[in-house]
Amino acid sequence: MQRETAIVTGGAGFIGSHVVDALVADGTQAVVIDDLSTGRAERVAVEGVLEEVDITDRTALDAVIDSARPAAIYHLAAQSSVTVSVKDPSRDCAVNVQGTVNVLEAAKRHGAPVVFASTGGALYGNDAPIPTGEDRIPAPIAPYGASKWAGEAYVLTWSHANGAPHAVCRLGNVYGPRQSPHGEAGVVAIFSHLLWRGESPTLFGHGTPTRDYVHVSDVVAAMLAARGKPGVFNIASGTETDVRTVFEGLRGAARSSVEPKLAALRPGELERSCMNPEHARRELGWRAEVELTEGLADTYRHLVEEFENQAA
Ligand SMILES: NC(=O)c1ccc[n+]([C@@H]2O[C@H](COP(=O)([O-])OP(=O)(O)OC[C@H]3O[C@@H](n4cnc5c(N)ncnc54)[C@H](O)[C@@H]3O)[C@@H](O)[C@H]2O)c1
Repeated sequence: MQRETAIVTGGAGFIGSHVVDALVADGTQAVVIDDLSTGRAERVAVEGVLEEVDITDRTALDAVIDSARPAAIYHLAAQSSVTVSVKDPSRDCAVNVQGTVNVLEAAKRHGAPVVFASTGGALYGNDAPIPTGEDRIPAPIAPYGASKWAGEAYVLTWSHANGAPHAVCRLGNVYGPRQSPHGEAGVVAIFSHLLWRGESPTLFGHGTPTRDYVHVSDVVAAMLAARGKPGVFNIASGTETDVRTVFEGLRGAARSSVEPKLAALRPGELERSCMNPEHARRELGWRAEVELTEGLADTYRHLVEEFENQAA
């Protein structure tokens, strides 16, 4: 019997590489489309195929997708830095909006359902009720939020217009193995790296800002469950956790006594973010399973292995 093929754009990235692992474990042929701008080839499972292609290059993208003839497309490739989006909103728009349209057009030719990785925190803004439901009208405060919102609009429009069951997954603050400590976000990886080096992390907003942390394994399960389910889904824990609690969980895992530095909130950062995952529970039968304290301890162990391997 011929194996089914799925495309994972951004499959050399933090979350995408875990999606690839899950597909491969399930016997699916995974074809990764990634320009390696922040992704790394060694993250892609050996059973996967890596095609180094920029999703804004429509000719190259079409060639890979038409040859793969995918049964589904998990679309995670994105310009995902808020800072870059402010400095270069045109590039942010090109990747997150035009790139998404390119993926949708290719998906249409193959009747492939698309699962799109969007964001919750960057969309809902500061005044949203906590926990925030999907019906809240987005109020992004940076170009990255605007381009993700526009990407969502195209995904939903293509879904309605073409009768294609495309899904939008609005992810909370994802953490887990393979997250880079060198990005601007991803406090779990950043704090882990500093604790491993015996250095003091800085808690912006004096440790009080809250986020909705969700383990990458839960996000992968949600994205696989969302295949063929049209709609918008918050993929989050529904639990509001302040950044000091995350620091303390990781400090415990690191058996460290380092004290954090405290600083004011940086411009553009949200004070509170927490999403209501009820719709995903009802429609996808999904809920976040990994409890934060255990998830942090497990992530710390994995990240330290990665830091040690990279240092060797
Ligand atoms: N990490 C989070 O907490 C979080 C939260 C909300 C939404 N998301 C979304 O989830 C997705 C994955 O995020 P991540 O944290 O794994 O980030 P990541 O940077 O590790 O992964 C993104 C991948 O896309 C690739 N990419 C970027 N531009 C590309 C282009 N033009 N063409 C082809 N590939 C390109 C990168 O090389 C990288 O491998 C993104 O769409 C992001 O917006 C992430």
